[in-house]
Amino acid sequence: MKTFTTKQPVHQYLLQLKATGKSIGFVATMGALHQGHLSLIQLAKQQNDIVVCSIFVNPTQFNDPKDLEKYPRTLDADSRLLEGAGCDVLFAPGVNQMYDDNEQWHLNIGETEHLLEGEFRPGHYQGVTQVVYKLFNIIPAGRAYFGQKDYQQFLIISKMVQMLKLPVELVMCPIMREPGGLAMSSRNVHLSADDRQHALVLSGTLNHIKDKFTPDNIAALKQEAAQLINAEPGVALEYFEIADGETLHEATPQSKTIVALVAAKVGNTRLIDNVVLAGG
Ligand code: PAJ
Repeated sequence: MKTFTTKQPVHQYLLQLKATGKSIGFVATMGALHQGHLSLIQLAKQQNDIVVCSIFVNPTQFNDPKDLEKYPRTLDADSRLLEGAGCDVLFAPGVNQMYDDNEQWHLNIGETEHLLEGEFRPGHYQGVTQVVYKLFNIIPAGRAYFGQKDYQQFLIISKMVQMLKLPVELVMCPIMREPGGLAMSSRNVHLSADDRQHALVLSGTLNHIKDKFTPDNIAALKQEAAQLINAEPGVALEYFEIADGETLHEATPQSKTIVALVAAKVGNTRLIDNVVLAGG
């Protein structure tokens, strides 16, 4: 695996490969890699000649400075995992490679930005689109792989790609889970043994709702889910929504895709998860 920490050399290297007809698959991450990330790398490997992974803890998408500070950083271990997974290129820049001082960014991506995650993490998706746009300019990939785990992020990046006509195809990858059902996340390292136990209520409730789902019982199911999660000690629910998979507004029986999405604090750790209930 070749590792780059600066943008021009990785850009030039990949352009040369592309000129020889190689297809490039790209996986953007913030590191602290786990099987969820590696599943993206695996799919990218199956579908492309060259796989590129970026590791960059992007400061502009954190609205809580403490969250940014305690975000796990494990570059050496990540690098070994990527090597083992057959990743060809790692791009791991420092903050000054990615940002100039006092840089401004605003992309009008519509109201989806302000719903769900956007309501609890104001500005988050401006930071995400800002960094992903930069990464797409540096890494000339034909396909980029993102997880369903961050469902809203996928919708918003799709919107950006569409609006700006970026020449990249987005691929959504399924959520990888721990054996008990907990969605894998870099933040799971912050969970205590008790937190881990309590956190199971999130995937447990999503599965329960999926089992009971019919398009005419949305309001009742939403209420039941909130009750189940609120009854769990150590878990503070932020939202549980049964949403239209395209608009993220509350689903109606006419919605083509319906997704249940949840965010909660478990102890001090904020977790998100979702499941597709219909369509998709
Ligand atoms: P990060 O949280 O590191 O996630 C990188 C990618 O891995 C995202 O596409 C995410 O959806 C996917 N992923 C995370 N957990 C997963 C799981 N359990 N199963 C499958 N895929 C999973 O998302 C980001 O970083 C950042 O916002 C980023 C896009 C890199 C921009 O900074």
